[in-house]
Amino acid sequence: MDKLQAPNPEYGQVVCVLWDLPVPRGGDRGVIIAGMRVLGIESSCDETGVAVYDTDLAGSAALRAHAVYSQIALHAEYGGVVPELASRDHVRKLLPLVRQTLAEAGLGVGDIDGVAYTAGPGLVGALLVGAGVARSLAWALEVPAVGVHHMEGHLLAPLMEDDPPEAPFVALLVSGGHTQLVAVDAIGQYRLLGETLDDAAGEAFDKTAKMMGLPYPGGPQLARLAEQGTPGVYRFARPMTDRPGLDFSFSGLKTQVLMAWRDSDQSEQTRADIARGFEDAVVETLSIKCERALEAAGTNVIVVAGGVGANKRLRARLQQMAERLGGRACFPRPALCTDNGAMIAFAGALRLQAGQHNPPKVDVTPRWDMATLPAV
Ligand code: KG4
Ligand code: ZN
Repeated sequence: MDKLQAPNPEYGQVVCVLWDLPVPRGGDRGVIIAGMRVLGIESSCDETGVAVYDTDLAGSAALRAHAVYSQIALHAEYGGVVPELASRDHVRKLLPLVRQTLAEAGLGVGDIDGVAYTAGPGLVGALLVGAGVARSLAWALEVPAVGVHHMEGHLLAPLMEDDPPEAPFVALLVSGGHTQLVAVDAIGQYRLLGETLDDAAGEAFDKTAKMMGLPYPGGPQLARLAEQGTPGVYRFARPMTDRPGLDFSFSGLKTQVLMAWRDSDQSEQTRADIARGFEDAVVETLSIKCERALEAAGTNVIVVAGGVGANKRLRARLQQMAERLGGRACFPRPALCTDNGAMIAFAGALRLQAGQHNPPKVDVTPRWDMATLPAV
């Protein structure tokens, strides 16, 4: 959600040292620790997510429980996320959600072997709530804690499903704040191949939906409306596909849609037809660039994650494209495409198992380049 962050560069990293204690039990770097039950906490924006990931179990069974509380209703009347309201609501919801998730997993708090929390990128106040709770729990339980990069969480989410792909592969990260193509050479080793020069794909969905009078957040609603639309009635540009390169630009497309909507009869059917034309343009653009990225990286496995990864047409289109290349497209189940605690528990578990954890301080990084992450 980088578009929502405070521009003040001082917020690049926020650290509050609460305890000057030795790091509790946990392995040394490079030593894989078996059998960890990791509590994951996500609070980077407007969803409070909690999960327990059990590294002793295989495939999707390893996710013992997960719960998400969405703040959509809270922010709806403002037409977007209000950071202060988001932080306060995380304060209200986080501990009850931790209790609920542990109960669903059939575990007591003492059964937790490690805690993972989103340390960035995101809204500074919202991140601090999750980091504060995670750090306090880890300290009280004397277990290690690790700060997870939110986008790495999204990127690794498809690996929680059965029959997960192995690196190297290309990841398409499509959320409300990001549209990125990333070459994944190994877990923790990421190379940015291309990204949006302006709006993120999810942001384009949300803004286009708003222009056509759909309530916030419009992305999923616009996709639902597009189901009723007739393909081809409106045809919009496939931005930046007529030249080489792996970057994206979606803001011009949004303007094209605005003009088409203004000049139309604004009937229900027209709205659906425009929604379909818009969705087809975004899906085809993403698919063209994914195919190019696979070629550039020399692989035929594409992993898709982030909120827009829940889009049915995008899933079908990328599946077709990957199969044509003799490869595969891997997605998390739709509920794990949007923000959730499961992806944070999983990404954190991989790092904790490798002996990686952070010193005992509340430490968040609202702006954070994924390429700077250490290898696992
Ligand atoms: O990953 P996410 O939950 O939050 C961020 O980290 O941004 O992504 C949210 C974004 C929103 O822009 C939302 O409109 C979009 O994902 N989204 C969709 C669909 N479901 C969620 N966009 C298109 N089609 C969908 N089915
Ligand atoms: Zn996200």
